[in-house]
Amino acid sequence: MTDLTTTYLGLALRSPLVASPSPLTGNLNDLVLLDEAGIGAVVLPSLFEEDVESEAMTFHDRFEDSSGLHPEALDYFPDVVLSHLGIDRHLRLLQEAVSILSIPVIASVNGRSAGGWVDYATRLADAGAGAIELNMYDVAAAPHRSASDVEQGYLTLVEAVRAAVGVPLSVKLSPYFSSFANFAGRVVDAGADGLVLFNRFYQPDLDLRTLDVTPTLDLSHTGEVRLPLRWIALLRPQLPQTSLALTSGVHLGTEIAKGLLAGADAVMSTAELLRRGPSRAGELIAELDSWMDAEGYASVEQLKGSVAQHTARDPGAFERAQYQQVLAAWTR
Ligand SMILES: Cc1cc2nc3c(=O)[nH]c(=O)nc-3n(C[C@H](O)[C@H](O)[C@H](O)COP(=O)(O)O)c2cc1C
Repeated sequence: MTDLTTTYLGLALRSPLVASPSPLTGNLNDLVLLDEAGIGAVVLPSLFEEDVESEAMTFHDRFEDSSGLHPEALDYFPDVVLSHLGIDRHLRLLQEAVSILSIPVIASVNGRSAGGWVDYATRLADAGAGAIELNMYDVAAAPHRSASDVEQGYLTLVEAVRAAVGVPLSVKLSPYFSSFANFAGRVVDAGADGLVLFNRFYQPDLDLRTLDVTPTLDLSHTGEVRLPLRWIALLRPQLPQTSLALTSGVHLGTEIAKGLLAGADAVMSTAELLRRGPSRAGELIAELDSWMDAEGYASVEQLKGSVAQHTARDPGAFERAQYQQVLAAWTR
């Protein structure tokens, strides 16, 4: 029997596959199916401060309209705190998921203001989240902000949330930092217990008919796993005590195995589960299990980090660009 258990953010997981945030993890029925399929943990969709604000504004506009016409309408909404509307839905989902599921439930926050990050993270932790994941992303398009200004902004937020919540804290990052190894270490110094590498962002397109800038969402494909794989392998020896989760491009059980070999404590999947449904989680775990069995690995612990930068046969291979060799090796 292969031992698939792992520890991620101090949480004991029965398997290393985690469902990353998506509409699937925002639906209670799908969460139950993921649990039944053997998933190790789930991360709920991010609580976006922008959504909370826009829901509050919509309610406010309707309320203002109706109360102007019918002053007695005030009596119908005496105690409503506007900013709580969108949050309540998230808190309810979290509480229901925690009470129904047999696995850890991680809550995710994507704030806009410093107060929003701290406030939402605190409320989700108080509502029973096993850990908080900060989904941090900023298009650094302002020419007056230097790279260190941008990085300092992230670090200040991590420190503020760390000071406010007692549960484990992970930070989900994009790869768009000029010196990622340095920055990753400083995020950990600021109080993160874990890093989730990497979030995958969607580039806007242009509609040539309307000339509108259109948001476009293409799900990931197998092969995209190589970017987070390289960085997990590079960071593992630098951050031996930090939980690392790999996200982006995991579509096969063998890709979970690669993530673990590189040094991940958990490997996340979204696109594959969205395309094939929650039961695919069970197949992915079975694929990992049979690969481990065939290769003679007894446990995930044995696998973890055994081909990271410091343990690989060629430790320099993750660092070298290998640009020229790759180009020269291409054949028609
Ligand atoms: C429809 C959709 C919704 C998503 N929502 C969130 C979210 O709320 N918070 C977050 O951190 N990531 C979100 N993601 C990103 C995924 O969690 C994941 O990190 C990304 O899709 C890369 O993993 P994959 O290649 O397995 O899809 C979303 C992705 C998709 C496709």
